[in-house]
Amino acid sequence: MTILVTGGAGFIGSNFVLDWLAQSDEPIVNLDKLTYAGNRENLATLEGDPRHIFVQGDIGDRALVERLLGQHRPRAVLHFAAESHVDRSIHGPEDFIQTNVVGTFRLLEAVRAYWSALPDAQRAAFRFLHVSTDEVYGTLGPTDPPFAETNRHEPNSPYSASKAASDHLVRAWHHTYGLPVLTTNCSNNYGPYHFPEKLIPLMIVNALAGKPLPIYGDGQQVRDWLYVKDHCSAIRRVLQAGRPGETYNIGGCNEKRNLEIVHAICALLDELAPAAARGVRDARSGQPIERYAELITHVPDRPGHDRRYAIDARKIERELGWRPAETFETGIRKTVQWYLDHPQWVQRVQSGAYREWVARQYGTATA
Ligand code: NAD
Ligand code: TYD
Repeated sequence: MTILVTGGAGFIGSNFVLDWLAQSDEPIVNLDKLTYAGNRENLATLEGDPRHIFVQGDIGDRALVERLLGQHRPRAVLHFAAESHVDRSIHGPEDFIQTNVVGTFRLLEAVRAYWSALPDAQRAAFRFLHVSTDEVYGTLGPTDPPFAETNRHEPNSPYSASKAASDHLVRAWHHTYGLPVLTTNCSNNYGPYHFPEKLIPLMIVNALAGKPLPIYGDGQQVRDWLYVKDHCSAIRRVLQAGRPGETYNIGGCNEKRNLEIVHAICALLDELAPAAARGVRDARSGQPIERYAELITHVPDRPGHDRRYAIDARKIERELGWRPAETFETGIRKTVQWYLDHPQWVQRVQSGAYREWVARQYGTATA
């Protein structure tokens, strides 16, 4: 059999593809548009591997998706592709609506046409797994219980609104057409191949370059962090044993304040790559630094900034027996070490399309 993955050149998608093919010989058709966030270099170890069929294309291109489904006859579609960064969604929401909403709709329609025509046994076994976020639930107060699957969707950013819309489309395609869907809503991921616009990789990369570590507002916002490989194992488990029509929240019980995260990263860098030994200087003053935490800089808050996310992952644990393998301490150490070991990956993702975007967004002085 075969599975079709969308967005498999992005952060979570490429981790998923690599993990899957490390454990299974079932081929993957990987449909990815290669936006600024998609990077074939993440999949370089699969070069020439016949189990990985990469196709550059848009999930919104219905004719292409129909052709791929007809040609490869997958038993499942795993939908990772999305515009994923909240700050970008604030600057320019259009791409988020186009890919996350319209793209998901077109993908669902192509999948429905393919699925409807399958022989009975294959139609019953088919799954469409929609990879979504906990941000659809909105924000929590300090004493609220964590998000359960029964929480209402109350999205606050253009990103989370577009993901909530896609969750609703997926749900409706199950209730109306019977498409066997599974939805996962996961907390913030971190780990290898994370694009350095998101908090954790940005802080690592900026610190090593002596650049400011921008903390939005007071830095007391809480996120519930999960090592990306644990997210991948949860998705594999949901695909294997999840009940069609159900949603599963995925998280690692790792609520942390942003400032705590940034201090943890700085402390690990102090240990693993001391600033004095590397000759790191503060990019603004030109002065040598001793501790990376000296670079922490409070900046104005993000508009509409959600205060706290936290996941109640008891359903996936109880029903499917999934638990994360990493604690935050083990996962963040692996992550910092991965960035120290892959400076060329960082350098390359910061050039090209990314640089052009930064120049357009913030002016050429910053690019
Ligand atoms: P990412 O931005 O790193 O990667 C997205 C990938 O999708 C890229 O490879 C990009 O080229 C591709 N893509 C974008 N638009 C496309 C289109 N129209 N057609 C085909 N491919 C397209 O994102 P990520 O962090 O890996 O997130 C993957 C999924 O997981 C998303 O659906 C996201 O909402 C969800 N999610 C992310 C997190 C997180 O912390 N990063 C947490 C929970 C859920
Ligand atoms: P981010 O990685 O963008 O993920 P999300 O907004 O999807 O949770 O941000 C994580 C948290 O870190 C969020 O509260 C915003 C904050 N943040 C900063 O304080 N500074 C930064 O430079 C970035 C990118 C994020």
